Amino acid sequence: MNLNFETERLLLRPFEKRDASHFYLMNNDEEVMRYTGDVPFESIAAAEDFIEDYTNNPTGQIQKYHMGRLAVIDKTSKEFVGFCGIKTHEASQITDIGYRLLRSQWGKGYATEACHKMLKFAFDHHQKDQIIAHVHEQNIGSQRVAEKLGFQLDHRFLWDGLLPGRYYKLTRDAYYN
Ligand SMILES: CC(C)(COP(=O)(O)OP(=O)(O)OC[C@H]1O[C@@H](n2cnc3c(N)ncnc32)[C@H](O)[C@@H]1OP(=O)(O)O)[C@@H](O)C(=O)NCCC(=O)NCCS
Repeated sequence: MNLNFETERLLLRPFEKRDASHFYLMNNDEEVMRYTGDVPFESIAAAEDFIEDYTNNPTGQIQKYHMGRLAVIDKTSKEFVGFCGIKTHEASQITDIGYRLLRSQWGKGYATEACHKMLKFAFDHHQKDQIIAHVHEQNIGSQRVAEKLGFQLDHRFLWDGLLPGRYYKLTRDAYYN
C-alpha cells in the first residue's frame, strides 16, 4: 500500500525513525498538547519505539487498515512539520481525522491542506461514507480547521468522560457537493 502523498506545499508519508526527535519535541510542547488529551514521549528513544510499532505492528493502522497518522513534511525544506491522517477505531470501525503540527508551523494553512488530501484518500480510495473529528471545546484553531474542511458539529460529549469535546462529522456527499 502506497501511503505517500503530495500537496501543493507538503509531502505526507509513514513515520520514519529520523522523525523521532521532531515528534519528541512536538509532543513536549505544552501549547501543542494542551487540548489533545495525549502525553509527551519520555525520550527520543520512546518516540523511536512508538514509530517502529506504529508503522510495523500487524494490528496497527498502517498495516491493518492501510491508513493512519502520517508524517507531514515541508516539500521545499524537507523538514518535519507534524502529522495528519485518518484512523479507524477498532470497536466501532468509525474513521476519524487527526492533525498536530509543530508550533512554529501553525497559521500557514498546512493542517487544512494536509487534511484535504487525507479526506480525498478516505472518500475516494477507502470509500468511506463519513469521517468524524473529535475536538476539544476550547480548541478554536482545530475547530476552525474542521469547519473550513466542511465538518458539521454533530454533538458535544465528554472526552474520556472528562474533557468537554465536540464531535464533528463530514459525509462524502457533503464534501463533494
Ligand atoms: C490545530 C492545528 C493543527 C491547526 O494547524 P494550522 O496549520 O495552523 O491550521 P490552518 O492554518 O490550516 O487553519 C487554522 C485556522 O484556525 C484559525 N485559528 C487558529 N487559532 C485560532 C484561535 N485561537 N482563535 C481563532 N481562530 C484561530 C486560523 O486563523 C485559521 O483560520 P483561517 O484560515 O480562517 O485564518 C495546530 O494549531 C496544532 O497543531 N495545534 C495543536 C494540536 C491540536 O490541537 N490538534 C488538533 C487536535 S483535535
